[in-house]
Amino acid sequence: MQLTVVDHPLARARLTRMRDERTDNAAFRAALRELTQMLVYEATRDLAVAEDPITTPVTSTTGYRLAAPPLIVPVLRAGLGMADTAHGMLPESQMGFVGLARNEETFQPEAYMASLPETLVDREVFVLDPMLATGGSLVHCCGLLTARGVTSITVLCALAAPEGITRLEESGLPLRVFTASVDEGLNDKAYIVPGLGDAGDRQFGAV
Ligand code: URA
Repeated sequence: MQLTVVDHPLARARLTRMRDERTDNAAFRAALRELTQMLVYEATRDLAVAEDPITTPVTSTTGYRLAAPPLIVPVLRAGLGMADTAHGMLPESQMGFVGLARNEETFQPEAYMASLPETLVDREVFVLDPMLATGGSLVHCCGLLTARGVTSITVLCALAAPEGITRLEESGLPLRVFTASVDEGLNDKAYIVPGLGDAGDRQFGAV
């Protein structure tokens, strides 16, 4: 697994706004959108391009387009706040959705929704989930994708805990992870410390 920490001054500033408990829902969503731009920018650096000949008002020249725009998959609900920004930067991409909930008997994550193409062979997939905490949900989500044939998954998250990174590494899944910070760890309620609280509640309110 490849881990990239996007440790940029602008990313730190947005993350600080998100961590601050005084930041209201609207300002949190705005900071997450801006941070997502930075994560997408870094994560798309090596995407293949195809030549796209064009004519400018002056002359003909060779332009470029993405050879194979990745499928974008936000994990509901917290990943929704990253989806529109990622799609804006990758306008040719398709978007799938995965909704995960914890089974209260087994305590394991289960998909209550997986709106994905039947086959994902030869597709690059970008999974959006702001928090990599225990890694359980992401392992489950990425397992749904590899079951459809994906061989390359890029996970974009605002924050990661070392426990979650270890879990993803041990999963053996074909992953690249881009995060703005690797925090200290998890507390006894599996919240990231220092973290930012519940990323869904911080965006949408505690409903
Ligand atoms: N999910 C969150 O939203 N926050 C955490 O700290 C951990 C998991």
